[in-house]
Amino acid sequence: AMGREDVVREELGSLHGIPLYKCFIKGWPQVEAFQARPDDLLIATYPKSGTTWLSEILDMIYHDGNVEKCRRDAIYNRVPFLEMKVPEMPSGVELLEKTPSPRLVKTHLPVHLLPTTFQDKNCKVIYMARNPKDVVISYYYFYQMAKLHPDPGTLAEFLETFMAGKVAYGSWYEHVQGWWEKKQEKQLLYLFYEDMKKDPRQEVQKILKFLGKEVSEGTVARILHHTSFQEMRKNPAANYETLPSTMMDHSLSPFLRKGISGDWKNHFTVAQNERFDQHYWEHMAGSDLHFQME
Ligand code: PPS
Repeated sequence: AMGREDVVREELGSLHGIPLYKCFIKGWPQVEAFQARPDDLLIATYPKSGTTWLSEILDMIYHDGNVEKCRRDAIYNRVPFLEMKVPEMPSGVELLEKTPSPRLVKTHLPVHLLPTTFQDKNCKVIYMARNPKDVVISYYYFYQMAKLHPDPGTLAEFLETFMAGKVAYGSWYEHVQGWWEKKQEKQLLYLFYEDMKKDPRQEVQKILKFLGKEVSEGTVARILHHTSFQEMRKNPAANYETLPSTMMDHSLSPFLRKGISGDWKNHFTVAQNERFDQHYWEHMAGSDLHFQME
């Protein structure tokens, strides 16, 4: 674990203007050289927006609802994280090269930094967005438990850092809007965490239609059960507890923390909420992209 100590609580670097972990930036040449395959499916998100949930749903769809097959390995190996690179672990690109087709690929990259190979190969993409108030709270807890991040400071400080786009992967506003502009393309399905919470069956049906897959009602029911928050939280193949504690400390905050919409209400002060709302309207003005805040 010696090498890993170096990356603990390190300040973020900058990848083409986007704040990012320095160890990921070191691996960027391999990401740029990555070769997509036409049947790759890309799962793209801003961090803390439901990536792991969507990943588990897709792995279940790809395995026709077979729970045992979806326990074959940890989620970060079943759905490799494209730009991930930390010392002493195989990088996302290395994992992907060994993964048989059809592959599921996770990324948090803003659309303008996505390697062009995915467009060249006409790969399908599912983007999932989550309202920024719940994202910032989830991210705050994640900064504390995932040691790759710098110290987040107080929540008040972290809210400012987030609004200024100085967190890992940069501005949430630019991320969700950048991907939204690609939505008219037939190969992109844009989903919302809040919709998935309200009516997971309907959202799973949307995914199935997008993929051109048909499965039985029983399989849909199995998928919904296995990917519920309660099931995923106790599933070692989905809850990240198999990572070394030098990377994630679940005693500080579990990776599957609350899994609800509107938890920000338990954290924001009235003044913080007003400031956040004002900043939100300034940055989303003129956009037809709308979020349910609860
Ligand atoms: S990461 O690190 O960016 O890949 O994290 P990500 O998976 O995108 O986001 C983690 C949050 O998603 C919640 N989550 C779920 N919510 C509802 N249902 C299910 N099945 C589920 N799985 C994960 C997880 O709890 C994190 O949100 P918070 O609000 O912190 O609980």
